Amino acid sequence: MSDRIRWGILGTGNIVHKFATGLAVLPDAALVAVGSRRQETADAFGDEFDVPNRHAGYEALAADPDVDVVYVATPHVFHCDNTVLCLGHGKHVLCEKPFAINAQETRRMIAAARKNQRFLMDAVWTRFLPTMVKLREILASGRIGEVKLMQVDFGFRAGLNPKGRLFDPALGGGAVLDVGIYVVQLAAMVFGKPPAKIMSTMQLGETGVDEQTAMLFTYDQGQMAQLACAIRTSTPQEASIFGSEGRIHLASAWWNGTNLTVWDKSSGAEGETMTLPFEGNGYNCEAQAVMECIRTGKLESDIMPLDETMQLMETLDAVRAQGGLAYPME
Ligand SMILES: NC(=O)c1ccc[n+]([C@@H]2O[C@H](COP(=O)([O-])OP(=O)(O)OC[C@H]3O[C@@H](n4cnc5c(N)ncnc54)[C@H](OP(=O)(O)O)[C@@H]3O)[C@@H](O)[C@H]2O)c1
Repeated sequence: MSDRIRWGILGTGNIVHKFATGLAVLPDAALVAVGSRRQETADAFGDEFDVPNRHAGYEALAADPDVDVVYVATPHVFHCDNTVLCLGHGKHVLCEKPFAINAQETRRMIAAARKNQRFLMDAVWTRFLPTMVKLREILASGRIGEVKLMQVDFGFRAGLNPKGRLFDPALGGGAVLDVGIYVVQLAAMVFGKPPAKIMSTMQLGETGVDEQTAMLFTYDQGQMAQLACAIRTSTPQEASIFGSEGRIHLASAWWNGTNLTVWDKSSGAEGETMTLPFEGNGYNCEAQAVMECIRTGKLESDIMPLDETMQLMETLDAVRAQGGLAYPME
């Protein structure tokens, strides 16, 4: 392996532009290859980000000997096949969220990583931002006591586009897989375990996917999480965590914010607000964490481990089953 970790990017949609911008602030990262379904789009992306190897087709990217790790950023329905392809060619993989369509695909992806002895991670980038690092520290310190309840939402109003990735059932559309994963993973991070009981209700829109979903999770000692996500409704995008000795608020937008306020015995009525800025656009934080794992020979991340990804996908399956959302490919 060269001094720099050599990245390949699979797909040339919206998010890869942000990810490539994030990578550019990391001196020990090199973006060496891109794979697209068409040569023209691979070349256009290559010109924009100065990427030397431009492949027509994902298999050529997966086989590129110059690449150490591939960032998979296609619509959700392709994550499993794309990831298994790259792992099979001996590449490490960072796969966009939601990791897969369901737990069955997730199992296949994790098995491929373990069989090929390659690093694999669910790209839950928010977990690597300084605010989330601080949140984990505060919770572990016991400063707000025992966590009893949390509330979090992630909703935005997208224009209805039946053929777009957000609304097309054939592409795994809907709120739960697109942004529900953010709120579900926050609950998993805060409580450190999957819910004992899941209740959910979904509003299915005209294309058949959930436009908004509400979830109520209960845990083995009676703790609760109230979660909401939406793709046709703007919501505050805030998170609150309530403990026996205090509470924490993550300001909007909680998933990429820099402000966190804690109220406890010592904080006074206004609480103690901490500001935790980050370098770059934030995608560099998860990329940096991936590179640290690869350099030290780790096959998974302690912050976003594969067993937890498996539990997250099982939770999302249960949420969808109660809401009545199955995809055509399932
Ligand atoms: N972490 C985050 O903040 C974040 C934000 C947005 C999205 N995401 C995730 O990233 C993934 C991609 O989202 P996006 O918004 O970037 O999607 P997008 O703009 O629709 O781009 C997806 C790319 O996937 C490739 N693709 C392959 N087969 C396709 C098909 N049948 N239809 C459409 N595209 C196809 C295309 O690349 P080529 O034409 O080059 O092959 C396309 O440009 C999703 O899973 C999403 O949940 C994450």
